[in-house]
Amino acid sequence: MSSNDNQRHDPERVIDLDLVRCTENAALAAWKFFGRGDKNTADAAATDAIRGMFELIDCQGLVRIGEGRKDEAPGIFTDDKLGSWRPGSIPAAIALDPIDGTTLTAQGLPGAISVIALSTCDSPDEDPSQLFPAIPSHYMEKIAVGPAVAESDVSIQLDSPLDANLAIIAGQLRKRVRDLVVVVLDRPRHKDIIATLRRVGCGVRLISDGDVAAAIAPSLPNSGVDAYVGIGGSPEAVLAAAAIKCLGGEQLCRIWPKNDDERRHLLDSGLCVEQDFGETWDVKRMTPGDHLIFAATGISDSPMLRGIKYDNQHCITHSILIRARNRTVRLIEAFHQLGQKTIRLGSTGEEVEL
Ligand code: FBP
Repeated sequence: MSSNDNQRHDPERVIDLDLVRCTENAALAAWKFFGRGDKNTADAAATDAIRGMFELIDCQGLVRIGEGRKDEAPGIFTDDKLGSWRPGSIPAAIALDPIDGTTLTAQGLPGAISVIALSTCDSPDEDPSQLFPAIPSHYMEKIAVGPAVAESDVSIQLDSPLDANLAIIAGQLRKRVRDLVVVVLDRPRHKDIIATLRRVGCGVRLISDGDVAAAIAPSLPNSGVDAYVGIGGSPEAVLAAAAIKCLGGEQLCRIWPKNDDERRHLLDSGLCVEQDFGETWDVKRMTPGDHLIFAATGISDSPMLRGIKYDNQHCITHSILIRARNRTVRLIEAFHQLGQKTIRLGSTGEEVEL
């Protein structure tokens, strides 16, 4: 077997560290606009950096989950092609968000990350569109928990009352319900959820944006977060599902049309049938591929990752790299030498200084 065949035997190994380079570069590019009040420019910079890095990656990457759907932001869209697309290179499906938390980035707030999930095809004939199935609605209901709860015989359910789910979570974590910390997006639509959490005495950590990191946090040791609950973006649900699957946790989701118009549109356009509104998506259904890799880099501090810091010689990034095959979690602290580190831009093919 040639060394090339060996690599093919485990194709994620050929790609995985380069995905961290993608999210690092996107986070570094976004950082130039951190706290500058302009979310679209920050997003465009992060997107350009991801495209630039992907041009150096030997894969045939088909974007299944991109940006721009919810808020018409600039970006990388579904069906875009990323990678070298050299004949014989690794076929893969990609889900990404160059910045989850564009408003947080513009406002200089914690909780923003850059994130990519990639699933390689088992064979050149496998259809990459099956590896990240399309979710038709803009939003989903979500509840995310860590491995100790996911492995429990008594499982949480989206249909169960929230306090019943909290009792299961507390039981599995050997905590009292009132000692649980639950993250919720601070939105009027979560009034009842927040009221329930306060009634049973949980610590409620309200975030203004960025629910990918929030949903992954319960699956990470010592994150200080026991569960994530609420309604957030569907692309974000898929990205979080990729990491949670690799970490052994669970995230249950359900399509949530935000109003009657969206519900009618989903039905009339044939994107949904009535029974889809009651179906639960777990992490296996959202990310069915076995050869899944997840990478993220912190832009600002979140329950998952520390954000970017500068010292007088370096820019320091914190990233996470996980793959489903062996569940190895790599936490990567990188010191980028100022004056030497460059970021390749997709728009020009040029390397620009930090
Ligand atoms: P952006 O980075 O695209 O602004 O998304 C941030 C985010 O907070 C997601 O993390 C979350 O899933 C979604 O927006 C919630 O949507 P909304 O702001 O419409 O409630």
